[in-house]
Amino acid sequence: MSIIKIDRRDFRQPPAEAASAEAASQPTAAPRPSQEGAGLLFDAAVLREAGLLSPAYEGFKLAREYRYIKRPLIARALGRGATRVPNGYLVMVASAVSGEGKSFTAVNLALSLSLEKDLHVLLVDADVAKPQISRVLGLAEAPGLLDVLRDPQLNVERAILQTNIATLSVLPAGKPSAEATELLASRRMEQVAAALGEHDNQRIVLFDSPPLLQSNESHPLTQIAGQILVVVRAGSTPQPVLLDALETLKNHPAVALVLNQSVQSAAAPYYYYGYGSERSDRAENP
Ligand SMILES: Nc1ncnc2c1ncn2[C@@H]1O[C@H](COP(=O)(O)OP(=O)(O)O)[C@@H](O)[C@H]1O
Ligand SMILES: [Mg+2]
Repeated sequence: MSIIKIDRRDFRQPPAEAASAEAASQPTAAPRPSQEGAGLLFDAAVLREAGLLSPAYEGFKLAREYRYIKRPLIARALGRGATRVPNGYLVMVASAVSGEGKSFTAVNLALSLSLEKDLHVLLVDADVAKPQISRVLGLAEAPGLLDVLRDPQLNVERAILQTNIATLSVLPAGKPSAEATELLASRRMEQVAAALGEHDNQRIVLFDSPPLLQSNESHPLTQIAGQILVVVRAGSTPQPVLLDALETLKNHPAVALVLNQSVQSAAAPYYYYGYGSERSDRAENP
């Protein structure tokens, strides 16, 4: 299991320099409609206001910050530089309880991955009970995952929205359902997940998800996902709670911990521990 630390960010007050650099790197083009879906503006200001975007979102700075999550994740998803894990392109962003930073991590990791060459990121709002990403992006009413699961005639690609970032697309949560757990646990969900990879073999699918210990919907997602990132809020999640959450994943072959909002001094670099038998490595401060 790997452990990755993410710096705490005051995203509401980006440093002036970062803000202007970011403005320069913001996509200015109109949203580009995909072949099948409508265009969607992935709006940095809106995401930041909602507390879902790091000020490090300025091109390569963000890429650097998340690279210690990205590198092993990409390797296992697409088989680059390491053994591909079964269904490794399906990545669940999980946590024990809510409020630990799943949505924050999913959004920032998706943006960071979108800067990579030769891959495409699909951000799926699978936190169907609390679809924050869908809400913030104005997609609360948009057809999404649950609609696709409910209706076998619906092609999932038609519900996917291409954003104004060429390598990033979004699948909203869809119309809420009392049967969400059953839908997510259905054979149809397996087929949809497989179709997402078959349609584009350079695609990494990031699932923002419900908390492991506070919902039934998360369990089926753990069965589908080839990789699971467990976001842990530093200094907040009690150890027994985290251990309970990890217990639910004990048979999963690719679980990584992301220590979110860790407070780091300049002299205390992040540490990254490789998966399984890989050697521990040491990361730089971003
Ligand atoms: N690394 C971070 N730095 C600063 N604030 C963060 C960070 N991660 C999460 N937050 C904030 O913590 C709160 C909970 O995060 P969120 O991603 O919504 O949690 P979850 O999706 O797990 O319920 C949000 O207000 C978010 O802005
Ligand atoms: Mg969330």
